[in-house]
Amino acid sequence: MTCKDNRREGRLYQYSPWKNMQRLKLINANGSSICIKDQNIEWIGAAGSEPSEFKEGCLSVDCKGKIVIPGLIDCHTHLAFAGWRADEFCMKTQGASYQEIAARGGGIMSTVRKTREASLPELAARAEGFLKEMCALGVTTVEVKSGYGLTLKDELKILRAYRELQGKTALELIPTFLGAHTIPPEYERQREKYVALVIEEMIPAVAEEKLAVFCDVFVEEMAFTVSEAEKILLAAQKHGLRSKVHADQLKRSGGTELAAKLNAVSADHLEYASGVDFKKLADSGCVAVLLPFASLYLKKQYADGRKMKDCGVTVAVATDFNPGSAPSYHLPAALLLACLGSGLTPSEALSAATSGAAKAVAAEGRLGEIRVGAQADLAIIEAESIDQWIYHLTANRCMTTIKKGKIIFSKEDN
Ligand code: NIG
Ligand code: FE
Repeated sequence: MTCKDNRREGRLYQYSPWKNMQRLKLINANGSSICIKDQNIEWIGAAGSEPSEFKEGCLSVDCKGKIVIPGLIDCHTHLAFAGWRADEFCMKTQGASYQEIAARGGGIMSTVRKTREASLPELAARAEGFLKEMCALGVTTVEVKSGYGLTLKDELKILRAYRELQGKTALELIPTFLGAHTIPPEYERQREKYVALVIEEMIPAVAEEKLAVFCDVFVEEMAFTVSEAEKILLAAQKHGLRSKVHADQLKRSGGTELAAKLNAVSADHLEYASGVDFKKLADSGCVAVLLPFASLYLKKQYADGRKMKDCGVTVAVATDFNPGSAPSYHLPAALLLACLGSGLTPSEALSAATSGAAKAVAAEGRLGEIRVGAQADLAIIEAESIDQWIYHLTANRCMTTIKKGKIIFSKEDN
């Protein structure tokens, strides 16, 4: 990459995170130019015929030999948690299933115990480190769930940690309340009381402080029933929180159908959902979020992304980053798996992590596209094509990450 006004020349525009640039121009390999002013894409056309304000006094980045893509959107993560679960990974390599590990007190509850002990600043600091590495991969927006607290106090602690982080990170965080992640053991014999706690205390408190945009429920035998989830999601909708569902991950249990029925923004996982479910998603406009890391780590079948697309469903791909089923925030690697496991082409996988993912967080039109008027969230990838980038898995091919028109990561600076 060459850069006309770079730090070494000591000019006005420094090639450095947080530097307040007014205008930026990216010259693509095909001779087109993307012009950015303030936070948005202002003009796209043939290089050399840009409006006069982009001719001089504007940082010009030569992207020849690279590809410019919309900033990646990780639309499903469980970002704030304490501890890891490598011990369970070893158990899995010896044949233990996710459900068996959970039944022995491991799984989600093992992370809940550690997260309850962690302070808000500890959770925020750790999540900030993860965000920094995601940013270096070209990620510009991250959906972030609670769900490892499962008490009013601890769920609020996680969501407040996200709010605090939003003041520090250049990435956009989109928070989701997942108090209905699993039934904590203290409510095991009185699960209706936990559902009531979620509905009567947690949702109103989260809404009152405006700590979340969405409410999510894990619909599964080991978590919540369809009817419990429906009550929770409808209560959340009354408080202005739109619905998301962890659906049909371990077996077909009705989560996808519920998501369509409730006009959820997304139904996520879908490893065991079928063609009938996909038709319902297509009719309702609910996005299907593929989470291929969970299939990899749980040694489960992959969701049928090909069939979803053929049924007219909008498909997104995300990491599901969490310490159990998906201990990685490497979204480009998830895209590779979405191609190999779920039948997407590399171009479809990229769309799934940009425009599809934007729809999964209700930000379509603003995020996920390179279009005049869209927010200037972009990534410059050192690869000759999308196919080459996704197929040749490396540690990182992202050279530059741009958020709201500002360079927030540059490999040259690192
Ligand atoms: O999306 N399925 C439920 N929740 C997470 C896993 C959380 C965990 O194992 O800690 C998921 O895969
Ligand atoms: Fe998840």
